[in-house]
Amino acid sequence: MNKRILLSSPTMHGDELGYVNEAFERNWIAPLGFNCDAFETEMGEYLSGEEKIYGLSLCSGTAGLHLAVKLAGVKRGDIVLCSDMTFSASANPIVYEGGVPVFVDCERETWNMSPAALELAFEKYPHAKVVMLVHLYGTPAKTDEILEVCKRHNAVLIEDAAEGLSAEYKGKKLGTFGKYNVISFNGNKIITTSGGGMLLTKDESAREKAFFWATQAREKAAWYQHEEIGYNYRMSNVVAGIGRGQLKHIEEHRELKKKIYMRYKRGFEGLPVSMNPYLDCSEPNFWLSCILIDKQCKVGFMDIYNRLNEANAESRPIWKPMHMQPVFAHNDFVKAENSAADEDIFSRGLCLPSDIKMTEEEQAYVIDAVKSCFK
Ligand SMILES: Cc1ncc(COP(=O)(O)O)c(C=O)c1O
Repeated sequence: MNKRILLSSPTMHGDELGYVNEAFERNWIAPLGFNCDAFETEMGEYLSGEEKIYGLSLCSGTAGLHLAVKLAGVKRGDIVLCSDMTFSASANPIVYEGGVPVFVDCERETWNMSPAALELAFEKYPHAKVVMLVHLYGTPAKTDEILEVCKRHNAVLIEDAAEGLSAEYKGKKLGTFGKYNVISFNGNKIITTSGGGMLLTKDESAREKAFFWATQAREKAAWYQHEEIGYNYRMSNVVAGIGRGQLKHIEEHRELKKKIYMRYKRGFEGLPVSMNPYLDCSEPNFWLSCILIDKQCKVGFMDIYNRLNEANAESRPIWKPMHMQPVFAHNDFVKAENSAADEDIFSRGLCLPSDIKMTEEEQAYVIDAVKSCFK
């Protein structure tokens, strides 16, 4: 294949340019403005059910998580119970505030934080007051069970829904369950602004506080007056225009992602592999389709990775668990099984090309390349 088949790349439609041009025409080239305001309102309307949710558009999802950690009141030395199988951006903002992430193993039905392991983590760290829950690859976690454990231990839930925009759990969109929630518009996400993120909360005053920190903590005065440390975290009005155009196509993107997942599922019938699982009560956004190779099988995930690479198709190993990362070597890890479920998934899993511009022929070619590894 001459053209490289990608894991997940931006898909633009043209509507985005209309909003970007308007920013140019009205000379609103600043980290605030009408596109930022409208993007927040439109996202809030898209996500919320009965209760209004307030958005704050930011330069990245990581910035949103940092503000969420600050809003949750994490201080130096505080333990935060964090999903273990995730991207480092879930854990890093805890450390920015001097907090100490304790990593919690996943369960095998969604590959997300295990409620049983979370319960054990609270037994070990009864003073923990914040939980960072990730919905990996856009698959909803066992959110009700996690919320129930948090409630019992009087802990605040932060939802890292960076990968999960448009996915639903029991009919409600991800990014609306936590006290503070974050989505990402990084270039590889289901919709993108090239780079960006949004903090979401039902607490209007928390949104105002986060806005204040994200705008260099400028006090209300004619001169620059600062009483707290601030950040330059706001999203550009130009970039927010891309987001507004993309949001119009989110459902279309989700449907295309789902088709990709279903085609893989059918294509791999009879092979010793299974797809990344999800709960019946949830509707993932199928951001990335992944396979898990059966335990007894001699084919390793790197065999498939290398075969796909030779075929000019991009794949990626499952996100390496945080407790296995050298940078977090001294952080504790709590598991509910004898051996870590996420170490096992990491050792047998692979994320497959899930780009919505991939044609059916290209996907058939990827499926054939995977099948050839098992011959
Ligand atoms: C699970 C998870 N959390 C956080 C982030 C951070 O988002 P951003 O890249 O917008 O900073 C990402 C992705 O990049 C992610 O996959």
